[in-house]
Amino acid sequence: MAETLLVTKDAPKDQVYEEIIPQIKSLIDGEDNLVANLANIAAVLDTAFGHLWTGFYVREGETLVLGPFQGPIACTRIPLQPVARGVCGAAAATKQTQLVPDVEKFPGHIACSSASKSEIVVPLVADGETQIVLDIDSEYLNTFDATDQLYCEKIIDLLKERHF
Ligand code: SME
Repeated sequence: MAETLLVTKDAPKDQVYEEIIPQIKSLIDGEDNLVANLANIAAVLDTAFGHLWTGFYVREGETLVLGPFQGPIACTRIPLQPVARGVCGAAAATKQTQLVPDVEKFPGHIACSSASKSEIVVPLVADGETQIVLDIDSEYLNTFDATDQLYCEKIIDLLKERHF
């Protein structure tokens, strides 16, 4: 198992994603435990990009429950019923990645941290249901774009192949 993450400092983000994805693959290929793999993926993304908050929520019935993350303490439970709440709830309900350039303009955004300004949430859909979401929050507006979506969806695909 790799002990050190190798990432080129100040490289463009597509290059950083290209560097970390094989390292994520080799980390999770060597481990069967879902929580361990979510924890290491959150750590890799945090080390590579250092956004405000990087982590996972895992669906339990009609609720998303806080999973492994890096960053400030966060809301522990996000309801999906009667209405899916927040950006995470929207990603879970629509089963589509949510790219939010300005969280204040997203109706129902859940402000776990007032420092959060923009956000991306990527769902892992298996057996017809969202099972997990990857949530990354930035303290700056307009942080995430199609590049983040492309590569975060690839990371979610690796996780799906490994565990679902
Ligand atoms: N902002 C998210 C909630 C989770 S935290 O940001 C960690 C949302 O609106 O779903």
